[in-house]
Amino acid sequence: MSIACIGGTTLAVLSIVEYPADVLETPCEKVKRFDRGLTKLLNDMYDTMLDADGVGLAAPQVGILQQVAVVDIGDENGRIELINPMILESTGEQVGPEGCLSFPGLFGEVRRYDTIKVRAQNRRGKMYILKASGYLARAIQHEIDHLHGILFTSKVLKYIDESELEG
Ligand code: CO
Repeated sequence: MSIACIGGTTLAVLSIVEYPADVLETPCEKVKRFDRGLTKLLNDMYDTMLDADGVGLAAPQVGILQQVAVVDIGDENGRIELINPMILESTGEQVGPEGCLSFPGLFGEVRRYDTIKVRAQNRRGKMYILKASGYLARAIQHEIDHLHGILFTSKVLKYIDESELEG
């Protein structure tokens, strides 16, 4: 772990596993213990995601094979913590650019469901339901794939150059 400082806030930053690595392609175990270790993992993963300028991070990307992911696309939903998440319903489709913190500099067009309904647990183990569409739904689907050892590169329709990305 290292310490970074962004906007006056001190962040605890874990090192991100880059492809290729077995841990990125191994299905994760369900979380059973909602304890202080989990809280720390969630906090450290969120800091790591912010430090890396990402919108999502899954536990295998920091070497932990547990069904834990964090997402924050910078919208009104803020910080989303997904523990043992499951997609209950999915509709429509969208195709758009995607990248991954475990594949620096690599971007590709990926087809995803446009709208999803997800059931997950929060850091205290309480079940909740989240509905998402568009970019948020894309980010959540990408992270849930990580928890099953599935990488976005297995779904890329066409690789794109970083210069072709909007914004
Ligand atoms: Co990723």
